[in-house]
Amino acid sequence: MKFICLTLLMISGITDSISERYEVVGPADPVFAVAGEDVILPCSVKPNISVVDMRVEWFRSDLKDSQLVHLYENHEDRNTDQIQSYRGRTKLNHPELQRGNASLKLSSVRVSDEGLYKCFIQSKSRSDDATVNVSVEAVGRPPVITVDGFDHSGGLHLQCESEGWNPEPDLEWLDSAGVSLSSETTEAHRNTEGFNVKHTITVHHSDKIHCRVKLRHHMLEALIISSSNMFNSWRTSVIVIVVLSVIAGILIAVFAHKNREHSRLQNEHSQLHYEHSQLQDEKRRLQHEFSLERDQLLQSLKTIIPKALTHSRTHKVNVILDADMAHPRLIVSDDGKQVRDGNRQTGVNGEKDRFDEYLGVLGKDGFSSGCFYFEVQVKGQTRWYLGVTRASVSRKGSISLSPENGYWSVGLEIGKYRARESSYVYLSLSVDPQRVGVFVDYEKGLVSFYDVESMYHIYSYTDQSFDEKLYPFVSLGYWRNENPTPLIICDDY
Ligand SMILES: *[C@@H]1O[C@H](CO)[C@@H](O)[C@H](O)[C@H]1NC(C)=O
Ligand SMILES: *[C@@H]1O[C@H](CO)[C@@H](O)[C@H](O)[C@H]1NC(C)=O
Repeated sequence: MKFICLTLLMISGITDSISERYEVVGPADPVFAVAGEDVILPCSVKPNISVVDMRVEWFRSDLKDSQLVHLYENHEDRNTDQIQSYRGRTKLNHPELQRGNASLKLSSVRVSDEGLYKCFIQSKSRSDDATVNVSVEAVGRPPVITVDGFDHSGGLHLQCESEGWNPEPDLEWLDSAGVSLSSETTEAHRNTEGFNVKHTITVHHSDKIHCRVKLRHHMLEALIISSSNMFNSWRTSVIVIVVLSVIAGILIAVFAHKNREHSRLQNEHSQLHYEHSQLQDEKRRLQHEFSLERDQLLQSLKTIIPKALTHSRTHKVNVILDADMAHPRLIVSDDGKQVRDGNRQTGVNGEKDRFDEYLGVLGKDGFSSGCFYFEVQVKGQTRWYLGVTRASVSRKGSISLSPENGYWSVGLEIGKYRARESSYVYLSLSVDPQRVGVFVDYEKGLVSFYDVESMYHIYSYTDQSFDEKLYPFVSLGYWRNENPTPLIICDDY
C-alpha cells in the first residue's frame, strides 16, 4: 500500500513537472545600453526550468512591421525573418537555456536598438512573456565651434554643433568664469544615429567661450580662446584667421580667375579664329557664288543680249538724218546716212530748229508708239552722243542732254563713256563700241543702248514716260569736232 502511494506521488510529481507552470520574468527597470558596446537583455523563466525544448522569441513590440529580433525554435536559432539591422548581433546563451535563462546578448548597440522588446517563451502547453525597455545612451562627437561672422554691432556670431547623441543632450555656453550664457537659437534633430544639436550665440567681449554638451555623466566640450584680453584683438586674430583663409581663397580665386580668363581668352581666340575661318569660308562661298552668279549672268547675258539684240533689230527703222536740223558745221550726206563735222560756217545759226552749240542732227521721222531700233557706227570717232530726243526740246545753247531736258543718250567725251540722268553716269565698257544700237520701247518707257559687235548692253533708261514723238538723235559733241570721221547710220543687218 505504501508502495502504491509512493508511486502515485511520484506520478503526480511527474505530471506536475510536465504541466510546466512557469512565468517569464524580465527586468523591472529599463535596461541602459551604451552605443557601440554590448548589452544583455535579461529574461528567464520562474521557476528556473529548462527552456531548451521551448520556443524563445525576442521581438520589438514597439515596431509595426517586421518585429523579429531573435527566434529559438526546435532547439536552434532561426533568424531568417530577423529585422535586418539585428543581423549577426543577437545571441542566446544556449547552455543557459537549460537553467531557464533566455537572456539575449545584443552586441554593438546602436541608437536604433532603443525601444521595447518582448521575450516570449512558449512551451507545448503554455506561453508567457516579459517586456524589456531598452534605452540606448549614445555619446556624440565632440562639439565644433564655428565662427559665423560679425553682426552689425560688431558682435561675434558663434555656432556650436554636435551630433550623434542619444537621448538629446544638454548644450550650454559658458564664459571663462563658468557662467552659463543663454543660446540665441537652439536646434535639435533626431535621426537613426541620434540627436544633432546646434546652438548659436553672439558675444561682444573678449573671452574664453566654452561650448559644453552634457548627457548624464558624459560631457564633451569645445573652447574658443582669444589671444588677447581685448575683444578687438580677438576680433583681429579671428579676422586674421578668417583673412588668411580668405587670402588663400582669393589666391585660389585669382588663380581660378586667371585660369578662367586664360581659357576664356583661349575660347574667345578660338571663337574668333573659328569666326574668321567661317567668314573666310563665307567669303569664298560668296565669291564662288558671285562668280557662279556672274558666270551664269554672263552666260545668260550671252544668250539674252543676242536675243534682245535680235529682237531689237526686228524693230529696225530707216533713219534718214535731217540736214535741215543739223548744226551748221555738220555735213550730212545726201542719203542722210552719215554726218561729220565739216568745219564750215554757213551762217544758218539763226535758223529756228537747228542745233547751235551741239553738233547734233535728228532723224527725219519721229515715232510715237511701239518699238523702234537703229544702229550708228561710231568707229574711229572720239566724240559722240546718240540716242533719242523729244521733238519739242530746245536745241539751242549748251543744254544738258538729260531725260529732264528731253534727251536720252549715251556718249563718249574725253575718253569716257557716259549716260546722263540728273547727273552723269560713267560707264565702264571693256571694249570700245564700234557700232551702237539704240532700242526704244515707247509704251514701256525704255531706251536701251547696245554695243552691237561685242553684244554688250551699254545702258538703259527705264520707266520713262513719253508723251510726244521721239526722234533719233546723233551728235559729234559740241562747238567743234576736229575728228573728221563720220557717224554712220547702218542698215546692213
Ligand atoms: C534554480 O534555482 C535554485 C534557487 O532558486 C537553485 O538552487 C538551482 O540550482 C537552480 N537550478 C538551475 C538548473 O540553475
Ligand atoms: C522606457 O524607459 C524610458 C527611460 O529609459 C522611459 O522614458 C520610457 O517611458 C520607458 N518606456 C516604457 C514603455 O516604459
